[in-house]
Amino acid sequence: MSSAPRTTAPAPDSTGGRAFPPGFLWGTATAAYQIEGAADIDGRTPSIWDTFSRTPGKVRNGDTGDIATDHYHRWREDVAIMADLGVGAYRFSISWPRVQPTGRGPALQKGLDFYRRLTDELLEKGIQPVATLYHWDLPQDLEDAGGWPQRETSHRFADYAALAAEALGDRVRTWTTLNEPWCSAFLGYGSGVHAPGRTDQVAALRAAHHLNLGHGLAVQALRSGTPAGTKVSVTLNLHHVRPLTDSAEDADAVRRIDGVANRVFTGPMLQGAYPADTLADTAHLTDWSFVRDGDTAEIGQPLDFLGVNYYTPTLVSAAAEAGAHRSDGHGASPYSPWPGGDRVAFHLPPGDTTAMGWAVDPSGLYDLLLRVRDDVPGLPLMITENGAAFDDYAGPEGEVRDPGRIGYLHGHLDAVHRAIAAGVDVRGYFLWSLLDNFEWGYGYSKRFGAVYVDYPTGTRIPKSSARWYAEVARNNVLPP
Ligand code: NOJ
Repeated sequence: MSSAPRTTAPAPDSTGGRAFPPGFLWGTATAAYQIEGAADIDGRTPSIWDTFSRTPGKVRNGDTGDIATDHYHRWREDVAIMADLGVGAYRFSISWPRVQPTGRGPALQKGLDFYRRLTDELLEKGIQPVATLYHWDLPQDLEDAGGWPQRETSHRFADYAALAAEALGDRVRTWTTLNEPWCSAFLGYGSGVHAPGRTDQVAALRAAHHLNLGHGLAVQALRSGTPAGTKVSVTLNLHHVRPLTDSAEDADAVRRIDGVANRVFTGPMLQGAYPADTLADTAHLTDWSFVRDGDTAEIGQPLDFLGVNYYTPTLVSAAAEAGAHRSDGHGASPYSPWPGGDRVAFHLPPGDTTAMGWAVDPSGLYDLLLRVRDDVPGLPLMITENGAAFDDYAGPEGEVRDPGRIGYLHGHLDAVHRAIAAGVDVRGYFLWSLLDNFEWGYGYSKRFGAVYVDYPTGTRIPKSSARWYAEVARNNVLPP
């Protein structure tokens, strides 16, 4: 990824396809707990997701990540599949409890060795490793000490970042601190549909701040522990929030949800302060005194790019009564993940849906990218996740045909292309996901992979979308 800003829009090619800018990075993405398995092997200790998934009733069908896709043992095969697809980059996450089991103290060599072998193999095959430090697997010991609502956890995260930088900084040149801290804070501590499953809105707001602080401290640890030229970023699941009608009340509902979904992170990370309106919206819950003097300066470290995950837009309206949050696409819970957003109703946007029940709407991605460009001018963007779950199955010849996913990817890549043509500096795109995997509260019931996984045997079968995506990546052109 070059650091030179793009000044020209990509030109169409002669076949009517849309060429992406030279050097555009094509990748696939995964996360440790969703694919690795080997939960109790080589000194790894439980994370909050081990505890949560082993608690009856928390994850669909009682599924856990104990075995998952067994990537811990099959990593070489998985890298070979990526090489075969011709992708230029692989976004994966490091399992914190695999490399620093209790979240404190020295590194566990066996855990680090796994990521050394993986990254060596990727580099050998010409695939750029893009490492995420935290994709939701907090060591259980740190949760037992209070978890993200406690300030101490931010400092433990910075230590872990330093340890990862020291061990892998010679080979990983692109880092992401947190993946989707909104989910960690508000699904983990607010609605409780994610680990650790707490349902306390104040704890969720405290968690959001300590995730932000952990991010800022980790950026500093990565900067001082890695060679010059290393890229450092964060990945946010920015919600593209739209109003149901053009009423002033619905506009206010958008403002509230945008605050607690997006600006509570982008404010301190990228714009120097928490949004005053969100502090006011949540003032009945907390006075935010857990934000100490100097914290926003620690959080607002310069970044090399912002990672954006996008799946579907969010459609809201003003509601007469509290508790209308249940159909927001983030899992069923009687508890809201939206502090300060009680009088907001969520609606299913029009159009087709994926197996998650999420509306397919690429225009949300286009609008979101333009908005981020306007809010944070000059910051390069990377689509660090985009993709769809469908009910895929292997046919009689063992083939997996997934035209729905190809359509979804086509529409969203078209949106990315249009955004680039409109002047947004998007540097790359990572398809979620390389493999079918453990989809958190939904277990293995939702398949997001470009590669099908037959769970009983672990067999991998590239779906037709994998071939299609490989062609796009190889040509750097989206077909008509
Ligand atoms: C976002 C998360 O980062 C990822 O772990 C998850 O599987 C996908 N979205 C799909 O829900």
